[in-house]
Amino acid sequence: MDITETLAIPIPEQLDPSATTGHADLDLTTVGDITVPDPRMKLRDINVFYGQKQAVFNVNLDIGSNSVSAMIGPSGCGKTTLLRCLNRMNDTIDGCRVEGRVEMDGKNVYARKVDPVLLRARVGMVFQKPNPFPKSIFDNVAYGPRIHGLVHDRTDLEEIVHTSLERAGLLNEVKDRLDQPGTGLSGGQQQRLCIARAIAVSPEVILMDEPCSALDPIATARIEELIGELRKNFSIAIVTHSMQQAARVSQRTAYFHLGYLVEVGPTKDIFTTPKHQLTEEYITGRFG
Ligand SMILES: Nc1ncnc2c1ncn2[C@@H]1O[C@H](COP(=O)(O)OP(=O)(O)OP(=O)(O)O)[C@@H](O)[C@H]1O
Ligand SMILES: [Mg+2]
Repeated sequence: MDITETLAIPIPEQLDPSATTGHADLDLTTVGDITVPDPRMKLRDINVFYGQKQAVFNVNLDIGSNSVSAMIGPSGCGKTTLLRCLNRMNDTIDGCRVEGRVEMDGKNVYARKVDPVLLRARVGMVFQKPNPFPKSIFDNVAYGPRIHGLVHDRTDLEEIVHTSLERAGLLNEVKDRLDQPGTGLSGGQQQRLCIARAIAVSPEVILMDEPCSALDPIATARIEELIGELRKNFSIAIVTHSMQQAARVSQRTAYFHLGYLVEVGPTKDIFTTPKHQLTEEYITGRFG
């Protein structure tokens, strides 16, 4: 059967392409160099299961320092699952099992002695839907520094809150109403508040799972601009359904298909000269 015909029909329940008629001859070995010269984190031989069902297959990938790594691919291909491996958020999901290594500074973050709560302060996360706590703007940002004991007194705390809001590009809009609820802000402001909350604990890596999907184009443009700023100080891994967004904000792009990392490389190469047929099909909009 012609492969393009097969690809036009999504098979959401079937995750193992080798077992799927028409996908059997597809080589899903990753194309491109999975390594970078200055990795901040390394995923090695990652397999993820939800109960008996495997969602991620043998993924190897470096997340570079001070750069933005984009993860793209059709719905259900495992982007969120893989992103959640980086700060062990999958630990919080019943029945989810992760095999393999996730290295940071040469150490496996899945090692028994690693405290996931401390790990999540180093590897922060921003979600698809802005999720400010039902607290004041100030307390949202102060939450992390407080629970991690990063501050000695009120002056310290105010300093961190102000700096974080400033770096998230939100301070000017909220400086006169820090005592008001975070949930009272606009969607775009709430997402910047969540970014301020994530950076308040000085993480090294920020994971973003479709951070703009609930935002309008203006709020999206602000977040994209912010991502460009943040990468000077942080490593960022972002999942996005917008190929334009991946092209605008990232330096490297990883393309996933049915739980496999199919291709990875410099963003401009992925979007201009993709090597794998599946990548090309996806970026030219023929499926996904
Ligand atoms: N909590 C869960 N329990 C069981 N299966 C899950 C769970 N979360 C995800 N899955 C399954 O794992 C696979 C990968 O899901 P994942 O959410 O990682 O995909 P995704 O690429 O992020 O998709 P989308 O673009 O729709 O967000 C899917 O088949 C999904 O149904
Ligand atoms: Mg997802």
